[in-house]
Amino acid sequence: MGGHERRQVRLAARIGTVADARRLARRRVPRPVFDYMEGGAGSEQTMRDNTAAVEAVGFSPRMGVTTGVPGPDLRTTVLGTLVSMPLLMSPVGFTRMMDPAGDVAGARAAAGAGTLFTLSSMSGHTMAEVAAAAGVAAAPWFQLYFLGGRAGAEQLVERARDSGYGALVVTLDTQVPGNRERDLRYRLSPPLVLNRRTVTKMAPLVVAHPRWLADLARDRFRLELVNAAAVQAEGRPMSAAEALMHWVGSPPRWEDFEWLAKTFGGPVIAKGILSGDDARRAVDCGVTAIVVSNHGGRQLDSVPATMTALVEVLDAVGDQVEVLVDGGFRRGADVVKAVALGARAAMIGRPWAYGLAAAGQPGVERVLSVFREDIDRTLRLLGAPSVQALDRDLVRLPPQG
Ligand SMILES: Cc1cc2nc3c(=O)[nH]c(=O)nc-3n(C[C@H](O)[C@H](O)[C@H](O)COP(=O)(O)O)c2cc1C
Repeated sequence: MGGHERRQVRLAARIGTVADARRLARRRVPRPVFDYMEGGAGSEQTMRDNTAAVEAVGFSPRMGVTTGVPGPDLRTTVLGTLVSMPLLMSPVGFTRMMDPAGDVAGARAAAGAGTLFTLSSMSGHTMAEVAAAAGVAAAPWFQLYFLGGRAGAEQLVERARDSGYGALVVTLDTQVPGNRERDLRYRLSPPLVLNRRTVTKMAPLVVAHPRWLADLARDRFRLELVNAAAVQAEGRPMSAAEALMHWVGSPPRWEDFEWLAKTFGGPVIAKGILSGDDARRAVDCGVTAIVVSNHGGRQLDSVPATMTALVEVLDAVGDQVEVLVDGGFRRGADVVKAVALGARAAMIGRPWAYGLAAAGQPGVERVLSVFREDIDRTLRLLGAPSVQALDRDLVRLPPQG
């Protein structure tokens, strides 16, 4: 283990909570990078509501039934794949600027923890690199944006299929990038694009973070969105900027799900559903699963918190498809609440990004362990012998107001 790795392991050991990872991340990366990770859209109301809604769900434990050994069984299946706990990793873009190991670190940490990683379309690592990092036992999922329009999307889907991705996650809430006012502050046109030029522009903010800069320099500032850049148009590669422009011109629509499923040949998941009506529509279009998500409050502000939307979606389609949820999950106990309500699993975005920015792969591993320890503890305190035994009687929804 080199000096760099030893330092990351030491830093990771200081992570006892997601809040610790956030604090360390904030110290390590320059402010524009941290604000990109952290920020929500508009007044950030939905972002705040997400955590508040998770916290507002209460527990109703059963006493006198917990057995000490063996401990509770945390395993479950998601789309038929066995996972070691009901927690998966949501797609996060631009991770290579948080730490050069980026999505490779995320995929390795997920595989090591026995769970699933979702690769963002906006990655600085290729699909093949990330699939290899995850290994065959934990085929990652690929999150699709229509970079390069429909023709580009088709190429991305074919590449995901050929690289062995286990599911296609189609994000529906990003017709255009959200109004992230924090990003505007640095006059870096959204979505934030970091390269040698923009890093230089941020120089006054960057010099205070020499270790981060040295890490990026060692990685030769490979911040390009390689999967977007590999999209071909009329026999030549598109620039990432061109690919982004085409995506905004033709975001995914329900009519696309049939050819997406046919082209991919595996499970297709709709991400960004917030109502029972849209959930039914998704099921009618043949999706295998739904992710109730508002993009962590980064897209349309003032939409419902995901924990609130989860109940509506479960009531609409919970008996037909697996329902996942992300947004505001910061503790294992939060994950247990979602599963008790009926979600198959919860997913995390910022928490793993904080871990990555704080301490690279060891940081992500630590964040996953923090969640696992708290899921285990919460099941024992609830009197639930396993994740499978969780049900709505164990939680109390806040009064409707
Ligand atoms: C920095 C950052 C980048 C993101 N990039 C993507 C992306 O490329 N594609 C996508 O579908 N969702 C993206 N998301 C949304 C996450 O997948 C997820 O829905 C959200 O982070 C969940 O909320 P949480 O951060 O409170 O856990 C991103 C979120 C963050 C924080």
